[in-house]
Amino acid sequence: MGWIEELGKICDVFSASDSYRYDETPPLIAPKPAENFVVVKPADAKEVSRILRFANANNIPVFTRGGGTGLSGGAIPTEEGIVLSTERMTEIEVDIENRVALCGAGVTLKQLDDTAYKHHLSFPPHPGAETATVGGMIATNAGGVRALKYGTMRNYVLGLEVVLADGRILKLGGKTIKNSSGYSLIHLFVGSEGTLGIITRAKIRLFPQLRDMTVLAVPFSTMEDAIDCVVEISAKMLPLALEFMEKKAVEVGEKVSGEKWVSRDGEAHLLMIFESFDEAEEAATISEKFGAINVYAATTKKDQDRLLKIRGLIYEGLRKDIIEILDVCVPPAKIAEYYRKSNEIAARYGVNLITYGHAGDGNVHQHPLIYDDWMNSYFNFREELLRLAVSYGGVISGEHGIGVVKTKELAELFPDQYRIMKEIKHLFDPQGILNPGKVVR
Ligand code: LAC
Ligand code: ZN
Repeated sequence: MGWIEELGKICDVFSASDSYRYDETPPLIAPKPAENFVVVKPADAKEVSRILRFANANNIPVFTRGGGTGLSGGAIPTEEGIVLSTERMTEIEVDIENRVALCGAGVTLKQLDDTAYKHHLSFPPHPGAETATVGGMIATNAGGVRALKYGTMRNYVLGLEVVLADGRILKLGGKTIKNSSGYSLIHLFVGSEGTLGIITRAKIRLFPQLRDMTVLAVPFSTMEDAIDCVVEISAKMLPLALEFMEKKAVEVGEKVSGEKWVSRDGEAHLLMIFESFDEAEEAATISEKFGAINVYAATTKKDQDRLLKIRGLIYEGLRKDIIEILDVCVPPAKIAEYYRKSNEIAARYGVNLITYGHAGDGNVHQHPLIYDDWMNSYFNFREELLRLAVSYGGVISGEHGIGVVKTKELAELFPDQYRIMKEIKHLFDPQGILNPGKVVR
């Protein structure tokens, strides 16, 4: 790392520390961070450009880091090099009339939410942890529970400022809601996980504030009944969120939140959020038709928060006991079949799986609990699950990204796409300095 002194002439250089070594990826599946790296905290695109020009000329890997809330090891510095943190790029302004937030890449989800709210607007999707950053959410195309109605991060990015590996600063899009002006480079950077360029600013679409919400919690005897109900509800209306949890997941959520769920009975539970009370009523009637054990409506904010907390904390409750979190996305009507078959596969391998997810959009979160000698069989097990999801027309990640944990499966299961992705990577980053080893190898 003889280059550190030279880098120090361009920008402030900080030494490596644990807060830049890891993200939220469960430790057993997370890649080993490099022993040696330095951290830079540029303030704007110009400074990023100078750093990248230097890194490109000297072939030094650059790992961009937002909030570090990723679950696929995408932000972990896996080689000696530079961690480029966006933490100083936190400026945010709102163009109220055009309903656009102009954000630095390091603006957090909480900051974006609060700023939008202050201007009587909202950023509806709420794709993850409140400390996630705008740059990171764009780089992973983050989703979350509200993606069903309001879409994923992709649907909110109207404009981007990106620095390319050779230091060129690209400004893409603008404040318009429509854009049919040739190839959409914006959407190439959405989901690129720091491998094609470094996002420094973004224009984010805002919405009017959401109306009062009604939350339903509905237990069913079987996952089949619950998912059949979801299919019927989805054909009639578009709820803000339609979540499912198997009983084991509810129990984890109860334990970590200290709250009580609505029923001890039932193998499958739905949590639905509506922006209209009429829709909630209709959904309650449909639920009864599909054999709901009971229908619980939460109308006060306190009661709603209690139920949402149980769902929201499941991952937190499982984090230490799991090998990883899988996040395949299957066609929504296939969830019950995918769930049943993956549990059969799990039984064959002796794996204890805990499952919940976003029923409305087909995104299934499966948590294999750590078991003895897992290294010997786990990867065969996981490959069977990913192949099963793909056999239904699904994808291997619905929202958590490829990072380092699914590059092999991306190459094997989507070989034609993978080849073109590699060509695109080479076009944008011929030296391979940007987040090397992530997404494509
Ligand atoms: C969730 C995160 C883990 O849905 O994606 O809880
Ligand atoms: Zn999720």
